[in-house]
Amino acid sequence: MATLVVFESFFGNTEMVARAIADELGAPVTARALRVGEFEPHHLQDVDLLIVGSATRAFRPSPGTQAWLRRLAPGSLAGVRVAAFDTRVDVAQVGNRFLTLMVRWFGYAAEPIEKALRRAGGEPAAATAGFVVEDKEGPLREGETDRARAWARSLRRASAA
Ligand SMILES: Cc1cc2nc3c(=O)[nH]c(=O)nc-3n(C[C@H](O)[C@H](O)[C@H](O)COP(=O)(O)O)c2cc1C
Repeated sequence: MATLVVFESFFGNTEMVARAIADELGAPVTARALRVGEFEPHHLQDVDLLIVGSATRAFRPSPGTQAWLRRLAPGSLAGVRVAAFDTRVDVAQVGNRFLTLMVRWFGYAAEPIEKALRRAGGEPAAATAGFVVEDKEGPLREGETDRARAWARSLRRASAA
């Protein structure tokens, strides 16, 4: 199964998750992780599973991820399984009530990413996933890369079905 992971990361946490997912899903030839800025349309050729991940910024995907998603032509992901993830802070840990409310209203990056992938014709392979960073620059919470690997395996199972 040819898999492509496209991501945007500022401090390296989303990149770490993206690379763990690509590593879990196969050798570099069959699963690769690319920054949004490295992506070229030919990278999508023959891809069966497209995974897109972004750091959450202001309750949304990062600007580079949003711009990348806007460039996806309608129908361009027809026949492709898709999945979205983000990295995020744990608002319960931050303990700020205003922020908690904002998150309840506006959410995180993964859902809008999935919506855009669907609009381009992709078929979601599994529920979106969010991976927690301890602070805005990281590190990832202990166990999150293992959770990312487990999520990747669930995507593989769903995509093979
Ligand atoms: C300007 C800015 C805005 C952010 N907004 C949010 C947010 O709305 N929700 C959230 O959970 N985390 C937010 N964060 C924390 C990021 O999610 C965190 O920096 C990111 O997950 C780290 O991933 P990276 O190392 O790949 O950049 C924000 C961070 C910055 C710097």
